[in-house]
Amino acid sequence: MTFSRNIKIAPSILSADFANFGAECRAIEEQGADWVHVDVMDGHFVPNITFGPATCAAIRPHIKGVMDVHLMIAPVDSYIDAFAQAGADVISAHLEAGPHIHRTLQAIRGAGAKAGLAINPGTPVEAVEYLLDMVDLICVMTVNPGFGGQKFIHSQVAKVAKLRAMIGDRPVHIEIDGGVTPETVPLVAAAGADVLVAGSAVFKGGSVGNPAPYGVNIAAIRAAAQDAL
Ligand code: DX5
Ligand code: ZN
Repeated sequence: MTFSRNIKIAPSILSADFANFGAECRAIEEQGADWVHVDVMDGHFVPNITFGPATCAAIRPHIKGVMDVHLMIAPVDSYIDAFAQAGADVISAHLEAGPHIHRTLQAIRGAGAKAGLAINPGTPVEAVEYLLDMVDLICVMTVNPGFGGQKFIHSQVAKVAKLRAMIGDRPVHIEIDGGVTPETVPLVAAAGADVLVAGSAVFKGGSVGNPAPYGVNIAAIRAAAQDAL
């Protein structure tokens, strides 16, 4: 993974056909996805349950590019090695998921993955200040984590702009997750985000048997983001 601030579209397979993850991952990459975003939920940190490291390992061979694993689980530390061994390139943990996020980020890098730090909409951006030199990505949640298809929370745009200034020249990606559409993405792209996660806005209208709409949707999100730069 070489660092770049170019716009990257990361479809979330939370909106994919759960019975066809392998084919869905291949389809979104063929249709222009840059990264594949994988949402792991435990029914404890968030109210929804998805899947764990075994599913990540099973889909890994179907992803040519970056597998971006977003852990919405608590505790986190005891599962990091399993997700790294499953082939995650990026592992993001939530700042709110435990008392020792500094240790968690060290453990992610120690396991050989890029370290991501996700923050909920209610978490102030200043909370990441002393973590900036130990992360590769900060994920600003623009919905409350747990479900796809929610409305974008506009107050987070100012948070992204502040975060971009705090990051300065550090090679740290800003990822946006939740409610990303061609309508909302210009706001966060202009504020400095470079990794744009989108679930429902990518998968709507398509299927494994008819993947062309994925390509149309990805292109629309990318064009809207790039036009805002
Ligand atoms: C929400 C997940 C997101 C979700 C985004 O908890 O982290 O990745 O899939 O879905 P949309 O794009 O539909 O808001
Ligand atoms: Zn996510």
